[in-house]
Amino acid sequence: MSTYTEDNRKVTTQRLIEMKRRGEKISMLTAYDYSMASIFDKAGIDVILVGDSASNVMAGYTTTLPITLDQMIWYAQSVRKAVKRALLCADLPFGSYQGNSKEALCSAIRMMKETGADAIKVEGGREISESVERILSAGIPIMGHLGLTPQSINKFGTYAVRAREESEAQKLIEDACLLEKLGCFGIVLEKIPASLAKEVSEKLTIPTISIGAGPYADGQVLVMHDMLGINKNFSPRFLRRYADLYSVIMDAVEHYIKDVKNGDFPSEKESY
Ligand code: KIV
Repeated sequence: MSTYTEDNRKVTTQRLIEMKRRGEKISMLTAYDYSMASIFDKAGIDVILVGDSASNVMAGYTTTLPITLDQMIWYAQSVRKAVKRALLCADLPFGSYQGNSKEALCSAIRMMKETGADAIKVEGGREISESVERILSAGIPIMGHLGLTPQSINKFGTYAVRAREESEAQKLIEDACLLEKLGCFGIVLEKIPASLAKEVSEKLTIPTISIGAGPYADGQVLVMHDMLGINKNFSPRFLRRYADLYSVIMDAVEHYIKDVKNGDFPSEKESY
């Protein structure tokens, strides 16, 4: 456990709401596999998201649209085995909840039953309110996601900042209030002006989690490959890299190749 997080108790949706109430910022990262999730959990991260960004960073697609519910379940099962303390939230992928509320509930139940996740995340506001209501009525906690919602990239046509216009900002505020009223326990705000994220965060009693939405949200989330510097070619303004794993891994692999070619690996000590 990290020195920063001394509280070993399991993070629950209720505790996240309490953290907001007392002004403690919420830390959240994505993870898609057992080994990385196990490090993040031991470091004391509050929330681990099995994001559908797996479609990009794990599977190499250019959008989050292709990943399936079965594939998301596979990633979430791997992460679940590692996570003891953090709240584990899993994305419902594109196409698994937008059709109708019955389909949405079936997808949410599959995710919860087959992975042991603590909660699910869905993108959108008013358009998916029936599905949100139905999933919540089955006792499944939901995190909302507003602003730049990557599953709608074909509608937006760009990954630029959302809700700069008054009408879109107004709709986002209404959607956030609606998601809270329906019973969501938190909302990710992606790539919107910091001032708007501040206004939304002050209006709500449930926590907001920012990715590219500035410092006034109740917590922050980053995609693990981005913050660890595994991706070299993704440098949005909001991203802070905490490591340069691309270089570390490249150096290690080049060194290994050299040692194998030279016959320096394995040595006698490394042999039986
Ligand atoms: O899929 C994902 O990684 C996400 C985060 C960007 C919040 O939804």
